[in-house]
Amino acid sequence: GCDASILLDGSGTEKGYDLIDQAKAALESKCPGVVSCADIIVVATRDAVVLGGGTQYTYAVQTGRRDGNISLASDATRNLPGDSFSASQATDAFRAKGLSASDMVLLLGGHTVGLTHCSFILNRLYNYNGSGKPDPAMDPAFVTMLKSRCPQTSTVDNTVLLDHGNPTTVDNSYYEQLLARRGVLTVDQNIASDAATNATVRALAGGSSSFPALFGGAMVRRMGGIQVLTGTQGQIRKSCRVVLWFGSSFCHL
Ligand SMILES: *[C@@H]1O[C@H](CO)[C@@H](O)[C@H](O)[C@H]1NC(C)=O
Ligand SMILES: *[C@@H]1O[C@H](CO)[C@@H](O)[C@H](O)[C@H]1NC(C)=O
Ligand SMILES: *[C@@H]1O[C@H](CO)[C@@H](O)[C@H](O)[C@H]1NC(C)=O
Repeated sequence: GCDASILLDGSGTEKGYDLIDQAKAALESKCPGVVSCADIIVVATRDAVVLGGGTQYTYAVQTGRRDGNISLASDATRNLPGDSFSASQATDAFRAKGLSASDMVLLLGGHTVGLTHCSFILNRLYNYNGSGKPDPAMDPAFVTMLKSRCPQTSTVDNTVLLDHGNPTTVDNSYYEQLLARRGVLTVDQNIASDAATNATVRALAGGSSSFPALFGGAMVRRMGGIQVLTGTQGQIRKSCRVVLWFGSSFCHL
């Protein structure tokens, strides 16, 4: 999302977020054509983290990104680590973008707030690896609780919290939950059990590594710098939902 491709409307694009549109409209009315949607995402993400976790989570962000003109759901599927990845597959996916295993563990800590859909975890609850049983890595009481939220035959794809400790607060409870075998996605639980990442998870859960101090660093140093467009690359969109075209050609403002 570093070029704001996640904001473009259209069939098969990556996604759309209304709040970002409001921020963009406010900026365009004061200062047209200057602040990219990509920068708005980065600043808004930092502000959301601070609103959810407090000022100890604040971090300085770099700006000057420009917006991309392509958004393909298939790119997100291809580039993002899958919900069922092993810790080493997830590490490889982050490494391919220049991020380390500890960056990955820190960034997955973003699951301290937010939701997933039942469809991503039904296999863990009912038929793990075709066994007809739940994933043995999940606390059985937690399985029971999630099953009530995610009935096997439901026609509605309910949402479930990713962090059942302090679900609306940005904090290290995600890692505590992993140690209690209450990770929701397979990849969450895997980082707590894999020998290459479990020490990092344990240190963040126990507080010997400070999640507030380290999270922003992983966001800025690494994630916020992946494939950024600058200079005359890309464009500054007028609306975050649509690529700006000039005549029949792409407009470089
Ligand atoms: C489930 O299947 C995955 C992928 O084949 C494998 O890596 C994992 O060890 C299996 N887990 C269990 C508990 O059988
Ligand atoms: C990490 O996992 C390995 C292998 O399961 C285990 O030997 C080790 O004690 C664990 N380390 C921590 C810090 O949990
Ligand atoms: C979209 O942006 C890329 C990267 O800035 C550029 O190379 C490409 O020419 C643009 N596409 C169009 C159709 O303008």
